[in-house]
Amino acid sequence: VDMTPEQLEVADRHRDWHASRFGYQQSNVEFLYGHIEDLASLGIADNSIDVVVSNCVINLSPVKAKVMAEIFRVLKPGGELYFSDVFADRRIPAALRKDPVLLGECLGGAMYWEDFRRILHDLGCLDVRTVKQNPITLDDSEVAAKIGMVKFRSVTVRAFKMPLEDRCEDYGQVATYLGTIPEHPHAFDLDDHHHFETGRPLRVCGNSTDMLVGSRYAPHFKIWGDKSTHFGLFDCTPGPQGESAAAGGSCC
Ligand SMILES: C[S@@+](CC[C@H](N)C(=O)[O-])C[C@H]1O[C@@H](n2cnc3c(N)ncnc32)[C@H](O)[C@@H]1O
Repeated sequence: VDMTPEQLEVADRHRDWHASRFGYQQSNVEFLYGHIEDLASLGIADNSIDVVVSNCVINLSPVKAKVMAEIFRVLKPGGELYFSDVFADRRIPAALRKDPVLLGECLGGAMYWEDFRRILHDLGCLDVRTVKQNPITLDDSEVAAKIGMVKFRSVTVRAFKMPLEDRCEDYGQVATYLGTIPEHPHAFDLDDHHHFETGRPLRVCGNSTDMLVGSRYAPHFKIWGDKSTHFGLFDCTPGPQGESAAAGGSCC
């Protein structure tokens, strides 16, 4: 979905290249002209989408809560929002949010992480995971002079449409990755602190377990334990150096 015809033309020109790159006889991709704030007008029904992906678009929307509401409307239960975008360490001052240069640089509309987290919280998504993040340096001196007080990061986010708890609780559960996702034979990263080596059991909190069993990842994991016994808040203390991941627990 894009609101700029020229951008859709670029996408269209690369349709065949991608079909061949990903092993399809014919392209199975459809590009839609429209706004991400209004997916209903494009005929995208409630609970109809497995995964929403996006790269550096949501920061450009002036109504991010609407975008997120639309995404969580169209996702199927257990569906996933997986996107990369620019985040800021504070709310961007109102005057700078309208600055065309800063907007064009994907900085003026950058989301303050805590506001983003609150938007998702209000939509019922209580546990948002960071997959990776990198600091963004402001190389342009004019841009830095305007907004150099803000620290920007490029963040890849994973958020699932499913009921989760607002904290990570410990039910003594353990998950093992089976190594069956074709592009990830040796390991799979659910997020930046859940690195599942193939075949190696890892202690997981109730939310991580639910993400694994209630999503597209379910066939690729074996889970031990249920939620019948609660052991308190999940222990986020890293184990001693060299201790096995299974014994040390991981932070949620
Ligand atoms: C920085 S480009 C990223 C394009 C593409 N996702 C990529 O990774 O190459 C931003 C794109 O977002 C589109 N865009 C911005 N706001 C939008 C909105 N509210 N609805 C739909 N598309 C939007 C623009 O037209 C532009 O093509």
